[in-house]
Amino acid sequence: MSPVPDIRKQFPFITQQSDKIYFDNAATTQKPYAVLESIQNYYTRINANIHRGVHHWSILATEHYEAARKTVAQFIHAQDPSEIIFTSGTTHSINLLADCLSNTYFQQNDEIILSVLDHHSNILPWQNRANKFGYQLKYAHINAQYQIDTEHLKSLITRKTKLIAIAHVSNTLGSINDVKSIIDYAHQHNIPVLLDAAQSIAHFPINVQELNADFLAFSGHKMYAPTGIGVLYASKKFHHWLQPLSSGGGTIVDVDLYKAEFAEIPLRLEAGTPHIEGVIGLKHAIDFIYQNGGINQFYLWEEELRKHLYSNLTELQDDIDIYTDAHTPSVPVISFNIKNNHPYDTGTLLNNFGIAVRTGHHCTQPLMKHLKIPGTVRISLAVYNTLEEIDRFIIALKKTIKMLK
Ligand code: ALA
Repeated sequence: MSPVPDIRKQFPFITQQSDKIYFDNAATTQKPYAVLESIQNYYTRINANIHRGVHHWSILATEHYEAARKTVAQFIHAQDPSEIIFTSGTTHSINLLADCLSNTYFQQNDEIILSVLDHHSNILPWQNRANKFGYQLKYAHINAQYQIDTEHLKSLITRKTKLIAIAHVSNTLGSINDVKSIIDYAHQHNIPVLLDAAQSIAHFPINVQELNADFLAFSGHKMYAPTGIGVLYASKKFHHWLQPLSSGGGTIVDVDLYKAEFAEIPLRLEAGTPHIEGVIGLKHAIDFIYQNGGINQFYLWEEELRKHLYSNLTELQDDIDIYTDAHTPSVPVISFNIKNNHPYDTGTLLNNFGIAVRTGHHCTQPLMKHLKIPGTVRISLAVYNTLEEIDRFIIALKKTIKMLK
């Protein structure tokens, strides 16, 4: 049984449509009352611009905004809240970093290592700057357990390697990569590492100091917070590389007509009026996780769900191909295909049974090409899903297999 028995009741999207099953949580999660109410409370009692006023509400809004930064810092065990830069999401975080590093750190012919399982959001920003400024991209393969092949990645490192930017967890396959060993090895060669934590942040504890991660990017909406809010964690030791490219209100200490002095990180990277209610919603999503036992409790329940799903799927292996195996450390995300069928057909039929799954390439076309498949059907679970929903899904999947035979 779920260690958090009342968890479903906290999600109106789930309770108000309980005849349907939502298994597309890697795309976005549903939001608990705590987050929804925090947004309403912000607009009804607090709404004012931050860092810009001496009046009551501006001070209050600023306090809430900066309290959220502290909460996020504690959640990922950052050393200091100034290491938390608010962005619009993972994609924005990675693009911001790519621009900053292009401005101050990379030089022509420098090498950046990515992996073939990365999301387009962690390929295109680097590809774009590489094409523009003459950097070289190298890609680590995946191993038989559908994780980044750590040894292959290490073998790609040369004197020209300036950054390793990789997914913590595969959004398509659910596999957890051995990022600690990659970071340790990279640091022996003085190479900083960016982790794309979009698919890990909602599923298990992340401690950036223990991991020794230099940069880490994630989105709020995949961890029960609103859309349009995300984080770039940047270790203090690299703040000198992060000069503002997008400048404006809120980023400065002093402005003359022809020059300006910019504020410290994070403010110098948060130009304009930020997504204040998103930041407050993110804080309440983290508080919601703490108040329901913490991320470790979520992990334990999701692991039970994942094992139940996996063992039921393996019983159907005559009819389906599964893109994971029993020994791969994973979050509750499993990709499969009904043999000789396109994933869209499976997804459409499952939708007719009231089950939402994601189908297609999942913004990982290089991975699909590597696996020589057009796409997959992806089940991605969250803490409010149940064993009973998985059983209902398996019944629907068996019917779908029959219909497609
Ligand atoms: N990146 C999100 C996913 O994997 C949208 O579904």
